Amino acid sequence: MPASPDQSADPTRVNDYDGFAEAYAADNENNIQNAYYERPAMLALAGDVAGRRILDAGCGAGPLSAALRERGADVTGIDASAGMLALARRRLGDDADLRVADLSDPLPFADGAFDDVVASLVLHYLQDWGPTLAEMRRVLRPGGRLIASVQHPFVDYAIQDPRPDYFATTSYCDEFTFSGRSVRLRFWRRPLHAMTDAFTAAGFRLAVLSEPQPDPAARELFPDDFQALSTRIGFLFFVVEAPPPPAGSGDRSASTARTG
Ligand SMILES: C[S@@+](CC[C@H](N)C(=O)[O-])C[C@H]1O[C@@H](n2cnc3c(N)ncnc32)[C@H](O)[C@@H]1O
Repeated sequence: MPASPDQSADPTRVNDYDGFAEAYAADNENNIQNAYYERPAMLALAGDVAGRRILDAGCGAGPLSAALRERGADVTGIDASAGMLALARRRLGDDADLRVADLSDPLPFADGAFDDVVASLVLHYLQDWGPTLAEMRRVLRPGGRLIASVQHPFVDYAIQDPRPDYFATTSYCDEFTFSGRSVRLRFWRRPLHAMTDAFTAAGFRLAVLSEPQPDPAARELFPDDFQALSTRIGFLFFVVEAPPPPAGSGDRSASTARTG
């Protein structure tokens, strides 16, 4: 259903995931960007997740949580939007561990509660990554991984006119159409080194920096979009690791459980 013009023009309604939850979730389900590019890339980076306890931070309507669960992971989902979480609950069932939580706040979990944290397309909503990454690091066990996808900083820089100061952290708004509905999103853009510095400052070690290709299955389904997505910069993906347990500590879970 198209949005009324004043809705998308109202600057107070940016990032209103509660308001456009259904439209966003329906679009995300089968589009090339999410279903044939971002999600397969996250799953490939995660590798074999059977038996792993995974926190899906900014889980939205839960498509990644569902895919991880299908692969044998024990998944907990958090999101700031109750509307998105309601859709996740519809998908994942009443017994799913889903909680409303803002990633700017302390996380409602014990130290070392998870083997992995996945954060799909959510960190770029945060101005300051420091407290959030520190919390993600805290809830990961030694040797655990944070796997994250974000807007590519080079794209965020290049699409703005006039161009911002590349080296500053700045916000910008953009219009998107989800399932025919026009919405406004506001992102925080930062230089690439600020991302890697933030991971390091939180105690993570950079393991993988990835600019993946879309799923080949999308070539026939979306020929034009596939050509564009496979030749232009898309999202940026990170795998960063919490330090492994000290040698001789007896905790071999990190090296034995990790296959991704
Ligand atoms: C682009 S959607 C991605 C959803 C999901 N990760 C996926 O890939 O399908 C961004 C999600 O981040 C959530 N979000 C934005 N800011 C957040 C914050 N500060 N804390 C928690 N969730 C947030 C939104 O509510 C939304 O569900």
